[in-house]
Amino acid sequence: MAHDNPKTIATINFKGGVGKTTVTWCLGDVLSEFSDARVLLFDLDAQMSLTQAIGLNEDGHTLEPEFQNWYEASTSRQRTIFNALDRFTNRTQHFDFPVGFDFIYRLTENLHFVPSVEDLYWQELEVFDRDAVKDFIRRLLGKIINSRKLPRYDFVLFDCPPSFTLLSYSVLSCCDLILIPVNPDFFASKGTNLILNSLKMRIEPFPIPRIGVFMNKAKTRGTPTKETRFYMEEVRLVCENAAKMQQIKTKFFESWIPERVGVKRAIKSGGVPTDLREPFQRLWQEVMEYMP
Ligand SMILES: Nc1ncnc2c1ncn2[C@@H]1O[C@H](COP(=O)(O)OP(=O)(O)OP(=O)(O)O)[C@@H](O)[C@H]1O
Ligand SMILES: [Mg+2]
Repeated sequence: MAHDNPKTIATINFKGGVGKTTVTWCLGDVLSEFSDARVLLFDLDAQMSLTQAIGLNEDGHTLEPEFQNWYEASTSRQRTIFNALDRFTNRTQHFDFPVGFDFIYRLTENLHFVPSVEDLYWQELEVFDRDAVKDFIRRLLGKIINSRKLPRYDFVLFDCPPSFTLLSYSVLSCCDLILIPVNPDFFASKGTNLILNSLKMRIEPFPIPRIGVFMNKAKTRGTPTKETRFYMEEVRLVCENAAKMQQIKTKFFESWIPERVGVKRAIKSGGVPTDLREPFQRLWQEVMEYMP
């Protein structure tokens, strides 16, 4: 795989707990395993769920020593995503922030990771030049792409918070694909409708990325149950309508991810469960075909 620029994917939903973080992690892990693609994951959520999933020990309570040491060094050297944002918004002229392996953590040879920090909670209040933040991720990616110290990434995946923060906008205004997981419930079509009909207005004048919606936590008995299929159909219609009304490229993916009891928070304990690998590979297949 060799692209000039990495393909960028942001996982979002206004709704909490739909599986944004789980999906981001599983997609990254599955791809870096079944292909030789190099993947970079970003945790942009101050809740730090992805960071915990990646950094926590199997016990789920303590940080893995290697990660903990790295994280402490990164924080004390002021090399976190928050420091990068701070430098970017307070810069007088050029954006002076070195993007090396004290900013990016190497999970495996092909799977790298930029963790979150709690300081991001206050970013909305502390950032003086709000408008400048919109350009932040684009400029940061530019640095990563141009760095001679870093590998050439094929994919960059962003785990976004359930609220729309300045950072989310910054990602949405420059990514190639917005990936929206939904769950089989009443909120699936309502929430999808809300997002699809407000994104364009928010992101303009930047081009609107392609949008892909899919069912996570599908109730299944081999295949999705009647109830889950009902919600899938509802969301599919919402996607079709929004595509027409808003003139945005929106697709409801055929692939679904089943609900699997006991998806672990701590990732170190064996990665993506075996029975979820195939569903995530199918989802990747569809994502790749759909991506610009
Ligand atoms: N396919 C699945 N099957 C079973 N449980 C799942 C599945 N996907 C996610 N979960 C569980 O649902 C919960 C919420 O998942 P996750 O943290 O990924 O959601 P989120 O959308 O990132 O939440 P937040 O809005 O807080 O960021 C977690 O306990 C996770 O293990
Ligand atoms: Mg999350």
